[in-house]
Amino acid sequence: MKTLILDRLYGISDLPTLPTVFLNVMRLMRDPNTPIKDLANAVESDPAISMKILKLINSSFYGLARTVDSVQQAIVLLGANTLKNVVISVSIFKAMGGQSTNSCFNREAFWQHSIGCGLIARYLGNRIDCERDEQGFIAGVIHDIGKVVLDRYFNHELADITRLVKERNISFYRAELETIGITHAEIGEHLAENWKLPENLVAVVGQHHNFSPDSDHATLTALIHLSDILARKYKVGSGGDNLVPEVDPLVWQTLNLEPGDLDAMDEELQNELEKSKELRDLLL
Ligand SMILES: [Fe+2]
Ligand SMILES: [Fe+2]
Repeated sequence: MKTLILDRLYGISDLPTLPTVFLNVMRLMRDPNTPIKDLANAVESDPAISMKILKLINSSFYGLARTVDSVQQAIVLLGANTLKNVVISVSIFKAMGGQSTNSCFNREAFWQHSIGCGLIARYLGNRIDCERDEQGFIAGVIHDIGKVVLDRYFNHELADITRLVKERNISFYRAELETIGITHAEIGEHLAENWKLPENLVAVVGQHHNFSPDSDHATLTALIHLSDILARKYKVGSGGDNLVPEVDPLVWQTLNLEPGDLDAMDEELQNELEKSKELRDLLL
């Protein structure tokens, strides 16, 4: 079954592509001496995307004291790296947002789960001083992207998976293994590679359910493994089932955290999660 699914996956000729703005900004950012003006021009060549970017920059996500009304001003204020991250987030939603045609898959709840996971990862990353610079947010947003591929191209299989989740109250991940023998992690990894996303994001997508402390991007992957579970605990949207799995002990170790440390962060985490609905409405 797995080979069959993989054959179909590799054979999909109309996999969604990321907007040209994404490719141009990534190319320009490879040269650290690229003038701000050139970066701003690249973004502004797509008016719909630049409008979304400005909305995101002016949202509670950044909590800026004054309104930013041009991309150039945004780069001066927040830096080119932040702009790059915003471009990645907005591009992913442009390519993968939109309505689901399957009644068994709630896309809004799905994106709210992903954004919630991203907000938790951004908060924790800053608190424990790792993966700053919104890497956690993007990684959270994209970690379950394979589920959108299932939703778009594997309707019957998705229906079987969700039926099994309900009937046996098992995780989406387990139901995938039992029905199609492959999971959204592997499927998403294929898409992320296809998009030529940065290596650390590809690793998170592929490994967020199978954490290994020896992998190249262990910290970011550990951060998303934990944030995914916390998004479930705080009931932000839905990742496809309602279970709250145990955190892998090696994840605590890698992040230098203990379960009790989260108690002190509870209130701030809840405040962060308040932003998830606003962000979902803005990005979708
Ligand atoms: Fe997942
Ligand atoms: Fe998830």
